[in-house]
Amino acid sequence: MTIIDGKKVSSDLKNEIRARVAELKEKVNAVPGLTVIIVGEDPASQVYVRNKAKSCIETGMNSTVIELPASTPQEELLSRIAALNNDPDVHGILVQQPLPPHIDEYAVTMAISPAKDVDGFHPENVGQMVLGNLDKCYISCTPYGILELLSRYEIETKGRHCVVVGRSNIVGKPMANLMLQKLRETNCTVTVCHSATKNMPELTRQADILIVAIGRANFITGDMVKPGAVVIDVGMNRIEDPTRKSGFRLTGDVDYAGASEIASAITPVPGGVGPMTIAMLLKNTLQSFRRSHNLPV
Ligand code: GUN
Repeated sequence: MTIIDGKKVSSDLKNEIRARVAELKEKVNAVPGLTVIIVGEDPASQVYVRNKAKSCIETGMNSTVIELPASTPQEELLSRIAALNNDPDVHGILVQQPLPPHIDEYAVTMAISPAKDVDGFHPENVGQMVLGNLDKCYISCTPYGILELLSRYEIETKGRHCVVVGRSNIVGKPMANLMLQKLRETNCTVTVCHSATKNMPELTRQADILIVAIGRANFITGDMVKPGAVVIDVGMNRIEDPTRKSGFRLTGDVDYAGASEIASAITPVPGGVGPMTIAMLLKNTLQSFRRSHNLPV
């Protein structure tokens, strides 16, 4: 059984990105810049944003974090985004989700220039991705990271049955689309399961590649996994654990102990998909920089 080590792959990728950023600095005397906006004080979001900024700096990119109070009017957020769209030193803009309830996430997504939308959330990027024009879009970072893991671990996908559990706009929907595509040689037969799916175990047991992003701790048990399947766990659930200083621990959407007895390869939580998301965000920011300088990507 192979443990798919996202921490290691992410670290390798960040080293590759650092080398490319240093080369660009020599060549064009500028480096990519990522600006992250966080509205409010959600503790999990604060950790994510801090990690994004730290990784940016580690790879030699410029990082800016704009922290706004939860009471920030939507208009103010939109005008901040407009200013960043027009700033040539900003190559990537990310507005951390979730946003406070008075702010319309769709309006925010639409306000970010598709050319700087390194999250890959704008409909223009989503549309190009669905059309298979992967050189004309940014791919949403978590699914992109999963593609990278499958590729680096040389996991055969062509003609295999991929079952995606979850249909969110950030993970499930783009993931299913990417696994379906011919261009990137994923070329799978794809089934998408969700909260209203009947007989889910029957479907998950057919998966050669099982990708789970449903946001429910230990939802997939060992008996729902086909022997020899590759299991990718996108879940990041906080569950109470009084033995920890923080009072909680992170667990995935897959019962790791049960599934790892059956699977041929599996991603752990933490240390699987999570670290890849940030690495791909940096990759997208680097790509934006190259595009803005008319360099081949
Ligand atoms: N919140 C949780 N994951 C993400 C992400 O990938 N991008 C943004 N913008 N917000 C998030």
